[in-house]
Amino acid sequence: MRKTSDIIWQDAQHQVLFEILDLIREPGADPRVLLRLKDYSEHHFALEERYMELLDFPDRDAHIESHDRFRAEIEEIMLGLNKADPVFMGLVATFLTEWLTRHVFGVDKELEAFILASTAK
Ligand SMILES: [Fe+2]
Ligand SMILES: [Fe+2]
Repeated sequence: MRKTSDIIWQDAQHQVLFEILDLIREPGADPRVLLRLKDYSEHHFALEERYMELLDFPDRDAHIESHDRFRAEIEEIMLGLNKADPVFMGLVATFLTEWLTRHVFGVDKELEAFILASTAK
C-alpha cells in the first residue's frame, strides 16, 4: 500500500484505516466492521489531536473539525445499519475511502510536516 507519512505511527495507523475500509468493500462484509472503523478512527484521531495540542499546531481547529465530520458521517451510517446491503456497504466504503484519502494526503500532510519540524528542533 502507498506510504502516507514519514511518521511511523501516523503511516501505520492510516494503513490500518484503509485496510478496514477494504474489508467493508468486500462482498458480504459484516456491517459490524463499521464499528471497528469507528473505534480505530477514534483512536487515530485522538492521537493526532493530542499531538496538535501538545505542539500548539496552528490549524488545529480546522483539522479537528475535519475529524468531527468523519465521526459524524460514521455515526450517521451506523444509524442506517439495519438496512445494510452489499450496495449500501459498497457506497459507504467508496465514500469513506475518498474522504480519508483527501484528508490523509491533505491536512494530515501539513500536520506531518509540522510534527517533523518540531521534533527536529
Ligand atoms: Fe490521520
Ligand atoms: Fe487527521
